[in-house]
Amino acid sequence: MGIEREVGIVGGGISGLLACKYMLEKGFHPIVFEAQSSIGGVWTKTLATTKLQTPKVLYQFSDFAWPSSVTEDFPDHHKVLDYSTSYAHHFDLLRHIKFNTKVEQIHFEGSSEEEMQAWHLWNGTGDPFSSKGKWKLSLRNTLNHELTQEYQVDFVILCIGRFSDVPNTPKFGPDKGPEVFGGKVIHSIDYSSMDYQTILDFVKGKQVIIIGSQKSASDIAMECAAINGVEHPCRMLYRTEHWNIPDYLPWGVPLALLYLNRFSELMLHKPGQGFLLTVLATILSPLRWAFSKFVESHIKWKLGLAKFGMVPKHDFPREISTCLISVVPDKFYDKVQEGSIILKKAPSFCFTQEGILVDGEAASLKADIVILATGFKGDEKLKNIFASPTFKDLIMGSPNEPLPLYRECIHAEIPQMAVIGFSESLSNLYTSEMRCRWLAELLDGRFKMPSIEEMKKEVRKWDEYKKKYSGKYYRRSCIGALQIWYNDELCKDMGWNPYRKKGLLAELFEPYGPLDYST
Ligand SMILES: Cc1cc2nc3c(=O)[nH]c(=O)nc-3n(C[C@H](O)[C@H](O)[C@H](O)COP(=O)(O)OP(=O)(O)OC[C@H]3O[C@@H](n4cnc5c(N)ncnc54)[C@H](O)[C@@H]3O)c2cc1C
Ligand SMILES: NC(=O)c1ccc[n+]([C@@H]2O[C@H](COP(=O)([O-])OP(=O)(O)OC[C@H]3O[C@@H](n4cnc5c(N)ncnc54)[C@H](OP(=O)(O)O)[C@@H]3O)[C@@H](O)[C@H]2O)c1
Repeated sequence: MGIEREVGIVGGGISGLLACKYMLEKGFHPIVFEAQSSIGGVWTKTLATTKLQTPKVLYQFSDFAWPSSVTEDFPDHHKVLDYSTSYAHHFDLLRHIKFNTKVEQIHFEGSSEEEMQAWHLWNGTGDPFSSKGKWKLSLRNTLNHELTQEYQVDFVILCIGRFSDVPNTPKFGPDKGPEVFGGKVIHSIDYSSMDYQTILDFVKGKQVIIIGSQKSASDIAMECAAINGVEHPCRMLYRTEHWNIPDYLPWGVPLALLYLNRFSELMLHKPGQGFLLTVLATILSPLRWAFSKFVESHIKWKLGLAKFGMVPKHDFPREISTCLISVVPDKFYDKVQEGSIILKKAPSFCFTQEGILVDGEAASLKADIVILATGFKGDEKLKNIFASPTFKDLIMGSPNEPLPLYRECIHAEIPQMAVIGFSESLSNLYTSEMRCRWLAELLDGRFKMPSIEEMKKEVRKWDEYKKKYSGKYYRRSCIGALQIWYNDELCKDMGWNPYRKKGLLAELFEPYGPLDYST
């Protein structure tokens, strides 16, 4: 038990709450620093229409069920927030959280950079703690913006989230960016932070162009269409068509049966698999193709994608392997059909005084408002928190590789620090919980890290997998299609039996979820 050790957790979203709960369970002293005045992270400020996209059976704590009053499969964001708040109360986490406290930077004190470069084991010994190594956290009070005292901890867990704070904004050449535009340009972050009345005043009667085609873009388009109707249709400019889904039941078959069980993972080439599994994945590739066509035909039929020119060029499994899969808002294509949303392909574009000029076209699309629903830079957010330029470079890794995190949590060359919640899955709560349990066992001394060389080798294996199956989206670090294989690795490290089902058939075909790991 780690009675003496203080663990600093940055962020009080779902990942931070989980980290706090599992650190407490092992007897550590966790202290959570949360920049906002409440817990819940992304679920505290989002569009009014935001619901869980993941079925709640997958998005639940393994030891704390959704209340029976929540009967729907996809609860709205208020209910997700209530559920996480109840979790925090149930496990008495709130008294460990320092609200309105932003961690500006973290600074490692202990071994010098030269000493660290000579290490063969993570943190010098493979152990999570050392007698001389400490992290110093510089804190800012977010109410009065003053820097407060520095705080020293034995271990840092970064749970800062990846879908907030640092927007991904497209880059433009000179005189081609937002600066030449006569209207307003905002990011989806700004839109999400407005209340409905402000949005109404902002959007009503205006010509709106939304850049992007994923969940933020389609949700915002639905709101704009509801406000302005066909009179002032809202345009969505997209680069890539995606297999966004209308439901989780392609032709009546649960998607989880096709993609979230061990059998489905047999169809993929997995990092570190042996000869037999390689052969099996190759033999089963026609079946993978057949599953894909089965699902795609359902989506195409149900949404009428061909009519709107929205059939993706890639296959459906690519969408799962990138964690880009999102649920199409109800009646989205009805709005496209009636003309209150106009979809337009725009692989590249620039701003003009009156709006947006799509490359290859002669005339600009006129706009009063352009909303960039272009996602976030979670990697930059992680980088910015380190004081050391060396650690900044290490955490980012090469731009041509995914972020180099062993078990998606630990950087082989950054001591006494873990990241929870960067690498994505199809249910981020479930994945963050598995990672926090693994981390708690590591900190409690149940297992050790392998050598730095071994850690890097393992990271490279997962890099190959991500590049093979996620293509240009490899830096999203999605493990969604191999959640069970990934969990198996965590279980083996912790000395748990990775096989959680009763009987071979169940083991092969029953979908896995958080409750399989309840202890
Ligand atoms: C609108 C929306 C809907 C989503 N829907 C789903 C879904 O249906 N299913 C799914 O699996 N995933 C979904 N996600 C992904 C979602 O990010 C995760 O499910 C999960 O909530 C992430 O939790 P987190 O704690 O890792 O990060 P966050 O929720 O982003 O929390 C991070 C916390 O850290 C705090 N913080 C950040 N930096 C600092 C700092 N320097 N100092 C102090 N505090 C700091 C922030 O204030 C925040 O409270 C959604 C994301 C968004 C944006
Ligand atoms: N549960 C919910 O209701 C809900 C609501 C909102 C968001 N979310 C989640 O929040 C996360 C973030 O979603 P998001 O939609 O904000 O971001 P996102 O998933 O990262 O999507 C970004 C979009 O912007 C486009 N884009 C990025 N850079 C561009 C550029 N330079 N030019 C043109 N287009 C560009 C992308 O195009 P490409 O497709 O070509 O890459 C993509 O369509 C996701 O996990 C999402 O599921 C959930």
